[in-house]
Amino acid sequence: METVVVAIDGPSGTGKSSTSRAVAAKLGLRYLDTGAQYRAITWWMLDNGIDVDDAEAVADAARKPGIVSGTDPSAPTITVDGTDVSGPIRTRQVTSAVSAVSAVPEVRARMVELQRAAAAEGGIVVEGRDIGTTVLPDATVKIFLTASPEARAARRSGELRGKEAVSLEATREALVKRDAADSGRKTSPMAKADDAVEVDTTELTLEQVVECVITLVEEKAGQK
Ligand code: DC
Repeated sequence: METVVVAIDGPSGTGKSSTSRAVAAKLGLRYLDTGAQYRAITWWMLDNGIDVDDAEAVADAARKPGIVSGTDPSAPTITVDGTDVSGPIRTRQVTSAVSAVSAVPEVRARMVELQRAAAAEGGIVVEGRDIGTTVLPDATVKIFLTASPEARAARRSGELRGKEAVSLEATREALVKRDAADSGRKTSPMAKADDAVEVDTTELTLEQVVECVITLVEEKAGQK
């Protein structure tokens, strides 16, 4: 297991983060949330008054912030220039702006460098949108999680409850809009790799998804 690399891709609300963290914890692997990295650079752009719809300005600034991800699955952290931004990256402002920032090729090039460096030694679960296709095409196991938009909106609303007052319908609309942007962008869109196993989580509990992924990892790791 020390060298295993598990790529878990898919849209939000499919249980990707919970699954990835639980799989990493159970198998004694590190964990990298690449969505948090895109959110962190987006937070920095907003905090520095950069117009996120100005692709040139975003590209020029792409190498300025220092982004460091902690990879402990029981306590994932992310800092920008030494400041812990784990909370601020989950606000609605960042969520609305992240697709525009992550569509800029210079931003992606920078993030992919960080992600490949983190995964170089192996022993890691990496979650995102393009991990199996672009970032780590040689990953030991590739999983693509899906779920119905209704199930995904219900899960997201559950996460947001108490933090922000957002209706289920508004959450569903925002998810569908973000998926369209993430799947439709030119550079490295969200996609299932040809050799990824698709797992539809609509009717499954988190425990069932985790078990399914662990079985796949153990099968693949045993073959290597
Ligand atoms: O997983 P998340 O919702 O925290 O991801 C936030 C955004 O980051 C998502 O809308 C698209 C972008 N993203 C990406 O473009 N590529 C990745 N590998 C991970 C996330």
